[in-house]
Amino acid sequence: MKALVLAGGSGTRLRPITHTSAKQLVPVANKPVLFYGLEAIAAAGIREVGMIVGDTHEEIEGAVGDGSAFGLEVTYLRQDAPLGLAHAVLIAREYLGDDDFVMYLGDNFIVGGIEPLVRRFHDERPAAQIMLTRVADPRQFGVAELDTSGQVVGLEEKPAAPKSDFALVGVYMFTPAVHEGVAALKPSWRGELEITDAIQWLIDEGHRVSSTIISGYWKDTGNVTDMLEVNRLLLEDLDQRLDGAVDDASEIIGRVVVEDGADIARSRIVGPVIIGRGAVVRDSYVGPFTSVAEDCQVVDSEIEYSILLRRASIHGVRRIEASLIGRDVEVTPAPNTPRAHRLVLGDHSKVQISS
Ligand code: TTP
Repeated sequence: MKALVLAGGSGTRLRPITHTSAKQLVPVANKPVLFYGLEAIAAAGIREVGMIVGDTHEEIEGAVGDGSAFGLEVTYLRQDAPLGLAHAVLIAREYLGDDDFVMYLGDNFIVGGIEPLVRRFHDERPAAQIMLTRVADPRQFGVAELDTSGQVVGLEEKPAAPKSDFALVGVYMFTPAVHEGVAALKPSWRGELEITDAIQWLIDEGHRVSSTIISGYWKDTGNVTDMLEVNRLLLEDLDQRLDGAVDDASEIIGRVVVEDGADIARSRIVGPVIIGRGAVVRDSYVGPFTSVAEDCQVVDSEIEYSILLRRASIHGVRRIEASLIGRDVEVTPAPNTPRAHRLVLGDHSKVQISS
């Protein structure tokens, strides 16, 4: 069995972060979200991975390399434009050959991995096996309709009037039967080759499509809210480890990781929190569910339930919450200008100001 990992796409929902970097490499608990997926694939006993990459291919290749760090053999497959999940299968046709494969969306996060799902697929070998989870608003997802025995009878992509509240999770398993369906697809109303249409084709042709309703946790980290939530979940599992410098005037409460080379002075850190290598925290409060990446600076500030990417700095700001702050960003107070905000924001930035 092979894996097809989708690490292309346009990432519009995560702009402006995705103007300059791949969304699959945004770190949660200081590790790129894509790496959790690759680890799950390796843990399921799969070795060969075809990685779909788009405009951000250099960054993805730089981070993942040949895959050996994960125990994988990664082959990069270039997609010129994000023309849909089924388009990714189409361009991987030759790479996949006649092998069964698991398709894994590189920005998805599944607690508990995929090993039991792969085992079930091996045992039963339906043409496709999809994963479903109940969601509050199915209109933003691919939605499955099930019969009373749990067989999938229909699929719709982002329906205006969903027939169920079962959304497709971003991990799919296929036999090579799917390729004929993919080859027959026409672009949908949004101009993409939809994997839901390919699975619907399998159903219509009389192939067996089975589903597993996952009870574990799943998130598409394509938007900030879900990314913060996955970060929270991962930090929940931390154990305290203080490898960096923490001065006597600082207070560390609960599950806090301070990586080697980080420097904490006169600060209060309430876990779960991770502070990356080379980060400096001075005269500050860092509250629960915050990930501070390598070489960040948090000085005379308060931050909580947030993700700081590499080399971001926050000086003299209170208080930041529920925020995703990109690489090399600087946040400072406006000098001597009460009731005024001074902003230099990139295209597609989103700012909420309380004043
Ligand atoms: P999506 O999050 O559905 O699409 P997107 O990346 O274009 O994001 P947005 O909706 O915010 O604009 O994609 C799921 C995953 O699949 C993600 O890791 C990107 C990847 N992908 C591809 O590799 N090729 C594609 O053609 C598409 C549509 C997505």
